[in-house]
Order: sequence, then structure tokens, then C-alpha cells
Amino acid sequence: MKDWPELTQELAQLKRQGRFRQLKNIEKKEGPYVYVGGRRLLNLSSNDYLGLTTRLRLEEILAELASAPTGAGAARLLSGNHFWYEQVEELLAALFKRPALIFPSGYTANLGIISALCGRKDVIFADKLVHASIIDGARLSGAAFFRYPHLNYEALEELLKKHRFRYRRALIISESVFSMDGDKAQLAPLCELKERYEAFLLLDEAHALGVFGERGLGLSEEEERLSEVDLLLGTCGKALGSYGAFVVTSQTLKDYLINKARSFIFTTALPPFVLAVTKRALTLLPELKWEREKLRRLSRSLRAKLGLSPDDTPIVPVVVGSDEQALSLARRLEGLGYFAPAIRPPTVPPGTARLRISLTAAMEEEMLAPLVAEIRRFLAENS
Ligand SMILES: Cc1ncc(COP(=O)(O)O)c(C=O)c1O
Repeated sequence: MKDWPELTQELAQLKRQGRFRQLKNIEKKEGPYVYVGGRRLLNLSSNDYLGLTTRLRLEEILAELASAPTGAGAARLLSGNHFWYEQVEELLAALFKRPALIFPSGYTANLGIISALCGRKDVIFADKLVHASIIDGARLSGAAFFRYPHLNYEALEELLKKHRFRYRRALIISESVFSMDGDKAQLAPLCELKERYEAFLLLDEAHALGVFGERGLGLSEEEERLSEVDLLLGTCGKALGSYGAFVVTSQTLKDYLINKARSFIFTTALPPFVLAVTKRALTLLPELKWEREKLRRLSRSLRAKLGLSPDDTPIVPVVVGSDEQALSLARRLEGLGYFAPAIRPPTVPPGTARLRISLTAAMEEEMLAPLVAEIRRFLAENS
């Protein structure tokens, strides 16, 4: 087979930079633990915040699916829109009190929503640290794209003032809990600015769904702004322990996306099984108050022990700087029985390589004690 020397060279360059990525074989999952290379490690790198991936009972879900097909067999607009879609979308509509539309995944949802709503005559404003799927969606749309410094809403307003009037539609995009920094957006200025400058607000609640809000609906629920967010994105592969994503929006926007979002239209529908898991998780979600409270306690306590600024999201970033340092800390923690791979550019900006410690309600505070001691030791040695 033909080789591609320039690709081999690029891979060699990644290896030299310490940025070569490799898949790790996760042999087994058991509560908050994973087995890697035959060793049991506390998994600090999942988004399974409520511990649902190993809590929802497969046998029960399978029993409900007795006569369901294994796959949807077609796109939703053809014959793939099976019974389970209606079940889950109705459940979402009842929870959020607005229509919902399921997408194949969070990545494809952002891609499809942004590129359907915005085109060359439009403008997008997004926080500097938003997820790759948002950046890719903005690029694909062909709209003008401005990024404001992280959480700086004065800078956002300056951009809106300067550029908004030259475009037809405007879309402001933020995550509610930031995936790599674990901090929260301020919804008050976002909602106020989107009103004042006649923009739509797309809020990606991927890391807040399940974690915040009385019924686990996210930060918009927690801050009583559910009805103000034009497009609320939730992912089912994180706290819900399933796969897929949804957007909660108006009926007009839902219809528009069904007609225009290419990542919704041109792909096979999710299998019934996946939606049955999502339904199970969503049914359970409002009740999981104890898990949400425990998660907050774990987060506050870990942050305090590591000397980080106080917050209560389940994502605790330990920024060490260079890629080598992040890799070295990850190796030391692995030696102690923790699975926390180093997060390096391009996932995070250069010079901010880190360990992204993500907590789950299946963990206990004692499990984290050796971790705290080792990180403190590492930071002291490298300060
Ligand atoms: C903020 C954010 N949005 C979207 C996604 C993509 O979601 P999915 O994994 O369902 O494709 C992620 C996943 O990491 C994310 O962190």
C-alpha cells in the first residue's frame, strides 16, 4: 500500500513535541474505577458526573426493548424516526416546557445548529474557550466570527456594538460550564446582551446537564433562565450515561433545524437502544439531588485542598504549563492508582497543559487524599 511520507513526518513531529495521541484500552469499568493494563485506577477523566454509566441496569433496559430493531435503519426524515424518539422528545419537552430535538451527538448538534442558523450574511460571537464543535460549526457556517476573551462580557458588548449592525442574524454562543476550565458563564449578562443586540443565544450545557438545577436541567434551570435561552444544548453522553444530544428551543427553530441542519438530515438515526438508555436517565434525573449535592461537596473540598479558586463544578483543572510537565504529573498519578491523562494543545491553548480532574458522585472524598498530596508535592517541586 502507498505510504504518505509527509503524514509520517507530521506524526514524528507530534511525537517530538510530546503531543502524539494514542488510544488506551479500557478493559473494564467498575463504579468510579477503570481497568487499564490490568490495573484498577480511579477514573478522573470521565464526564459520567452522576455515575450513571455503571448504575443504569442494562437488563432492565433490554427487557423494555424486547421487540425493538437493533438499528434505526434510516435517517429520521426517512423511516428512522422510531417510537423511542417521540418518547424521549416528549419527556424533554415536559421537563424543559419547550420543544426539543434530538441530534446524533453534541459535536454534530453544534455543527448542524450553527451552520443552519448562520450563513454569510450573519455574525457569531463566542467565548474564546468554547468547545471545538462550536468553532467548527462557526467555521462551516461561513458567518463572520468574533471571539471575546473568556467570560469577559464587557468585551462581548464592545464587539456587539462594533459589528452587530452590519449583519442580518447574530448568534451569541457560550458553554454554561466550560469543559476544560470547569468555570461557569454568567447567564445574566449573556441574556441581557442577546436581548439588547437582537441576537440568539446558544448555550451549550454539556457539562451542566445533570449537575446543576433543582431537577438537573443545567445552569439555566439553576439560575431560573430556562425560558430566556433560545437554544439550550444538552448532551446525553456525559451525565446521562448514554449517547446523543438534544436542543431545547421554540417550535419554529425546531422546524427550521429539521429542515436545514445537515448533520441532522444526512445521517442515520440513533438506534432504539441508545434512546431507551437516555429515557431511563432523564426519568431518573430530577430525583438525583443527593448525587448533585455530593458532587458539589467533593468539588468544593478538592478545590480548597489544592488551593484553587472556590467553585462547585465537577471539573477541576490543575494547570501545570508545559506538555512535558502535564505528562509527568499524569504518570506520577497513574503510579498511585489514578487515571487522569494529560490535556495538551490543541485541546487547550499552548502553555496551559493540564490535568482535568473530573469528579463523579460515585467517588468518596477519601479516594482523593493521596491525589491531593501528590499534586501538592508536584506543584511545590515545580514552582
Ligand atoms: C461543551 C461541549 N459541547 C459539545 C461536546 C460534544 O458532545 P458529544 O461528545 O456528545 O459529541 C462536548 C464534548 O466533549 C463538549 O465538551
